[in-house]
Formats: sequence, C-alpha cells, structure tokens
Amino acid sequence: MSVEVSDYATLKVRPEASGFGAEVTGLDLRKPLADPVLAEVKAAWAAHGVLSFPDQPLSLDELEAFTLQIGRFGDDPYVAPMPGRPNVLEVRREPDEKLTPFGGNWHSDWSFQPQPPAATILRSEIIPPVGGDTLYCDATRAYEALDEAAKARLAPLKAVHSATRAYGPKSQYSRELDQRSMPIIVSPEADKTHAHPLVRTHPVTGRKALFVSPVYTVGIEGMTPDQGDPLLGELFKHLTQDTFIYRHVWSAGMVVIWDNRCTMHNALGGYDGHRRVMHRTTVAGETPV
Ligand code: SIN
Repeated sequence: MSVEVSDYATLKVRPEASGFGAEVTGLDLRKPLADPVLAEVKAAWAAHGVLSFPDQPLSLDELEAFTLQIGRFGDDPYVAPMPGRPNVLEVRREPDEKLTPFGGNWHSDWSFQPQPPAATILRSEIIPPVGGDTLYCDATRAYEALDEAAKARLAPLKAVHSATRAYGPKSQYSRELDQRSMPIIVSPEADKTHAHPLVRTHPVTGRKALFVSPVYTVGIEGMTPDQGDPLLGELFKHLTQDTFIYRHVWSAGMVVIWDNRCTMHNALGGYDGHRRVMHRTTVAGETPV
C-alpha cells in the first residue's frame, strides 16, 4: 500500500523508493503533537511500517514524551536502562569495539514476550561517518508474495520464540560481555519460550505478516527440529530477499519508529574506529493473533 504525499493534510510523507518505509517532515517532535497530526503520524506509520523523521534532535525527556504519544512504554529486558531513565536504552558501540553491533542480526524486538512491543523508537545521537545503517524487512509484503498453498500451510502454525540465543547463559552475548560497552544482561530467564502465530494479523491494517526471525524464533510448535528448522530456514531466506528490504541511512538527530508486528530489522556494522550512540524506547503491544 503506497500513500502519496497529498494524502496527508498536516505532514509531508515521502515513501522510500524500496516500496517500504517513508520519510516524514513538516512537524516538530519536540512538542506535543496536536490530535490531527498525531493521527496522521499513526496512519503513515501503519501504511509504511517504518517512518524516519530527520532533524528532530529530541532530548531524552522529549523522546519519552513522543513515545508516550504513540502508546505506553514496553518492557525492555536484558539491557540495563540508562541511569534515571527506566524506559530508555542506550545503543552504544565504541570506536575500539570489534564485535557485531547490538541488534546485528534479523529480529523483531522482544518477540519472545507474551505481548511483544508494537513499536520501537530510535533516536540517533552520534552517527559514524561511514556504515551503521539499519536494514528493515517488510514481513507483510513477504507474506503476501507467498503462493496460496504456502499461505494455507503456514496458517495453522505457531512459531516458538525465545531470547535464549541472544541473552541465555549459553548465548553469543554471554561470551562477549567484557568486550561490549552496552550493559547487556544474561539470564537463565532468557531460555524460556513463548509461542505466537507464525502468520500474524496487524491490529490496525488487518494485513497479515510473517512473524518469525532468525534471532528469536527457535522452532515451530509440534514439529521436531528436523521438520521445523528447514521450514524456518526457507522463511528467513524468503523474508530477506532484496525486494522486501529498506536500508535506512542515519543522520544525527533523526528519529525512526518501526512496527515490530510486521517488520524485522538488522543493525549493520562497517564503522569500526568510530562511535555510534542511539537512544531507544519501545511502545507496548498486544497479544499477537
Ligand atoms: C536495535 O534496536 O536492534 C538496534 C538498531 C540499530 O542500532 O540500528
């Protein structure tokens, strides 16, 4: 679904050439948004999945206030929040860090939760001169591109999500804690699992999307790994085709909001020797159906 610039009375919305994501200008996120503006922001977000707002150097108070206009805060486990800011995470990578960036593989945020966050909002503070882009995958168009037989096969399935690979005692992060500047929390809690529909219906648009990711989806309910893993592998390959990807290039003082219900994202590196600092909030979501 492509919504043209002229469809909005209070915003300028420029859809990205990738056919997914849009840039929004003509508003000041530092101030509370009037009801018609907020309604248009939410409509544009539903239409495009990922919205970027350039030149919005929000303070942390303003970032929190903008987040609360979208919805109540989500629950962010496994990364200690900023001091005095229980709902803000700092995504930081120092010039001497060598490991994959935080969030550097395809995922939908905290999808292992019973009610994963609807939105994540990321505001850029320090952007490296090269690299540090974020890839977004349109899981709605990926679903819609499947043939009817594949859709029928997936319809009854539930995918099993867990934080184990990222934050469990045997996870990748657990072996790297002393080499990362972020306060990542490793816990046996992360080994818990939660099943969600593999095909999820968006509560606002009514469109269906694939709701699986390589980081957090660890199996398919009722299938052995021999049965479930090849199917998940096929789905990950399908989702991450170029045609479903938007590559976001950051500038300093930019705000991006993405919809975890119908997208995955992947933070790229390519900026060793440079600092990258972002501030992140989440907006609570609903039980996936
Ligand atoms: C994340 O929240 O997964 C990190 C995204 C990014 O740093 O670009």
